[in-house]
Amino acid sequence: MNEIQKLFAKIEVLPPAPTLIPKLMPALTDLNANFDEVVKMIEVDPALTAKLLQICNSAFFGPAHPVTEVRQAVNQAGYQSVYLLASILSGSECFQMPEVPGVNSKHIWKHSLTSAYGSRSVAEAIGLEPGTLFTAGLLHDIGKVVLARARGQEYGLLLIRAVQSNTPVYLSEETAYGYNHAEVGARLLERWDIPPQVVAGVRYHHKPSDAPAETKKIAACVNLGNFLAHAQDKPMVLEDPDFNFVVGMLNLSADKVRECRERLGESKNVIEMMSKK
Ligand SMILES: [Fe+2]
Ligand SMILES: [Fe+2]
Repeated sequence: MNEIQKLFAKIEVLPPAPTLIPKLMPALTDLNANFDEVVKMIEVDPALTAKLLQICNSAFFGPAHPVTEVRQAVNQAGYQSVYLLASILSGSECFQMPEVPGVNSKHIWKHSLTSAYGSRSVAEAIGLEPGTLFTAGLLHDIGKVVLARARGQEYGLLLIRAVQSNTPVYLSEETAYGYNHAEVGARLLERWDIPPQVVAGVRYHHKPSDAPAETKKIAACVNLGNFLAHAQDKPMVLEDPDFNFVVGMLNLSADKVRECRERLGESKNVIEMMSKK
């Protein structure tokens, strides 16, 4: 048994799998073939359907006519919007962590949402499928949930020390455990049958240049989405050499980066609303 398998064995209950995400993802690229199935898959969960319709009818989306069923929501708001909301509602369940010093579930969830919208804005700028990158951004730090559940206080302390010493968390993890949260998260997503492009985006989100050629752009996109999320509170991360490296990797001009940041800024209200769910 390798070290990460041992880690999984240590947790009594793994985070609940967001089972809807892998089922809804194929329709992102082919909705026509999957429309009825998609509607049924959402409707089968009455609690999720109720929340989804409530959000679609909220002041934020403000539809011309009240939406009373999933089919109508998809037709009015568009499948991308419904997919994003359904994946947030499904994903939010798996971000529950023990409340120990240094571990802040709410903070990690909000950062995940912001990174999801950040990765999506970068995907749009470089022509990748936005919903897929949104999901990769949403789940990129899920490995931290596994580590917090398995190691509790000890992991909280590692997070506190990393902040105090200004060391990236993934490097502190590698020093302490021999692996990092990106690899742990990718292994969890493989167990959950999340599509391989998303798994690669998560696995390489701190080291996009290590990703295989076919997933390099995806990993770079999540890496940049993560940077843009951090830049909301700490604009100085935009001076980081790693930030400039990934911008160069994606061949993005300064104007394009600014557009991505503005697009992420436009999602501020929806992030606020969904971070309280
Ligand atoms: Fe990370
Ligand atoms: Fe992150």
